[in-house]
Amino acid sequence: MKYRVIQWATGGMGKNCLRALIDHPAMELVGVYVYGRDKAGKDAGEIARRPLTGVVATREVGEILALDADVVIHAARLAPPYGAHDADLIRLLQSGKNVISINGYSHPQHWGGQRFAALEAACLRGGTTLLGAGLNPGFAAEQLAIVASGVCTAIDHVEIVESVDCTPVRNPDYVFKVLGFGAEPEAVDLNDPQWGPAAALNGMYAEVLAAMADRLGMRLERIETAHRGFPASQDLQIAAGFIARGRLGHFNWRWHGIVDGERRLTMSIHWYMERAHLDAPDPSLWRIHVRGQPVVRMSVDLEKRAGDLSPTSAEQIAVAGSVINAIPIVCAAPPGVLTRPLATPFRQELARLPQA
Ligand SMILES: NC(=O)c1ccc[n+]([C@@H]2O[C@H](COP(=O)([O-])OP(=O)(O)OC[C@H]3O[C@@H](n4cnc5c(N)ncnc54)[C@H](OP(=O)(O)O)[C@@H]3O)[C@@H](O)[C@H]2O)c1
Repeated sequence: MKYRVIQWATGGMGKNCLRALIDHPAMELVGVYVYGRDKAGKDAGEIARRPLTGVVATREVGEILALDADVVIHAARLAPPYGAHDADLIRLLQSGKNVISINGYSHPQHWGGQRFAALEAACLRGGTTLLGAGLNPGFAAEQLAIVASGVCTAIDHVEIVESVDCTPVRNPDYVFKVLGFGAEPEAVDLNDPQWGPAAALNGMYAEVLAAMADRLGMRLERIETAHRGFPASQDLQIAAGFIARGRLGHFNWRWHGIVDGERRLTMSIHWYMERAHLDAPDPSLWRIHVRGQPVVRMSVDLEKRAGDLSPTSAEQIAVAGSVINAIPIVCAAPPGVLTRPLATPFRQELARLPQA
């Protein structure tokens, strides 16, 4: 049996998921949704740099809804405010397709109320399941950090520090509009939840902390932000364009989860265009620090297989891996919103055939 899969959006991440789906012996690509006019009408193989598939990309949501598919891989660009993609997801879920999104959805139960009720109702109506996947959100906090806690007899604080060099990110809309690079430091308040990048990211990482608290049996009282931005120390040429000296060239997004009145959970993300303000000379992608009894420290990096000279990054491959490995789980789950499970392991019987 093959899983019938639709790919929704084909940017840096989506295109790589599409490629992984086309290559995978257990997956059958049945549809592709794109936003760009230039991509509509193209064969999925052309978009993914693969042989023709016979599956043509469309900008018509109705055509996607009419398809018979097991699961949709949602890789649209994050848009403020967080939850802006809910309406699309609800239509997909109602139409009988499970959804895996890389834009959060780690623990939508956190919001309760209307938002969660609408997602849950769509799942129940369609007999479907919604699941978040990806690296962060998805893997570093909800899975790795929680597994690390398993040897502790007491926990005071769990912190995840992510450090990502964003200079290779190509899409200017994503880099400047969604992430906020290049803004004038005096003109923006990173801790104002209304500011675009904060409006998109705060909700997404609130769910990450909520998923962690849920897994650790902690009652999350609230989330505090302590975001910092650093001005570029020199003019910066980056793949997405240019950042003038003095404009924001490094963000340290920080969310603290308050439990019993104290900061017990922290997500700290350094997305940077220069190394001048890093807190370590060559930080790992993730440093996970469980302060408890005992203290647990983990450093995690992703690297491509030796000899892989493709332009695809290890992170893009890993996002696709996290999505592929989640497909059997989401398809087997009972209808409803699924909190990110503790593990979504690789399964040999689903493994892709070796590349020629
Ligand atoms: N969970 C994780 O670990 C993780 C890691 C990285 C990224 N992400 C998420 O994945 C998203 C996509 O990342 P990316 O690197 O693929 O970004 P990207 O290269 O900028 O591509 C985003 C894609 O979104 C589509 N798009 C265009 N206009 C849009 C609109 N108005 N609304 C929504 N989508 C639109 C486009 O699809 P078409 O090209 O098909 O027209 C575009 O290529 C990010 O926004 C981020 O939130 C998650």
